[in-house]
Amino acid sequence: MLDGFSHLVVQVTDLERSEPFYTEVLGLDPVGRNLVEEEGPNSLLKMNTGQMVLLVQVPNVEPFRPNSGSIHHAWLLTVEQYKRAQERLKAIGVNIEDSREAFRALGERSMDVYDPDGHRYQVQAYGPEAYQIIKSSVGKVTCGKAEEFEVGSVTPFNQGMFFLLRLQEGFLALSRWCSHKNGQINWEREHWRFYCPFHGATYNRKGEFIGHMSDVGPLRLHPVSITEDGNVVVDTSVVIIRRSYNLDQIVPAICGAEFCAAGVERA
Ligand code: FES
Repeated sequence: MLDGFSHLVVQVTDLERSEPFYTEVLGLDPVGRNLVEEEGPNSLLKMNTGQMVLLVQVPNVEPFRPNSGSIHHAWLLTVEQYKRAQERLKAIGVNIEDSREAFRALGERSMDVYDPDGHRYQVQAYGPEAYQIIKSSVGKVTCGKAEEFEVGSVTPFNQGMFFLLRLQEGFLALSRWCSHKNGQINWEREHWRFYCPFHGATYNRKGEFIGHMSDVGPLRLHPVSITEDGNVVVDTSVVIIRRSYNLDQIVPAICGAEFCAAGVERA
């Protein structure tokens, strides 16, 4: 396991022009010029975390595409640090923009700053909203008769923010709030999976995380019940937190059946 990065090497075309950006705008401490054997003049800077940034002067720098998710570096701050940084950047007239504002998950703060060569730095912070368990205010949602849902169907319900799945064995109601940081997932029928466009999490049809990130649990559930007259009811006021998928989480399509899985937490 890594503890973090040691240093970052950044190519710039003019040290004189870039140093003020890294020291005054990003707030790094200058350590010294030409302390490192590099082909071009260089300037070593230190972050408050002890990690280093080395600026190396080169004749040309390949510009990054603006307003895209292309190669960039991101700094992660606490919310308080983020607010202070935002105030400071505004006060010194830095143009703070968030090119992907529409794609931010709940509680995610982000702003983009560019160095004089166009390197994009994303400054980020996550507030508690990113991790909270979200309960809908609509309570119990009657989804329709059980026989109206084809086996294999995935039906989104905006009211209550969940997907109702009709599996071979019965019903499962998956919360639409991503288990990573409360983005909103989409069902991608062509890939047979759920996808969160906020940071790219993917989940299979049972809501199990199948992506590359660590520590992302399965999608949360809402308890399903089938009324005596055959209606499927999802209780969005209860959120089920599970560590993994088990067959007993599925509620059979039988009148009177109820969610009664063991080993899960209810919130
Ligand atoms: S909120 Fe990060 S991937 Fe969904």
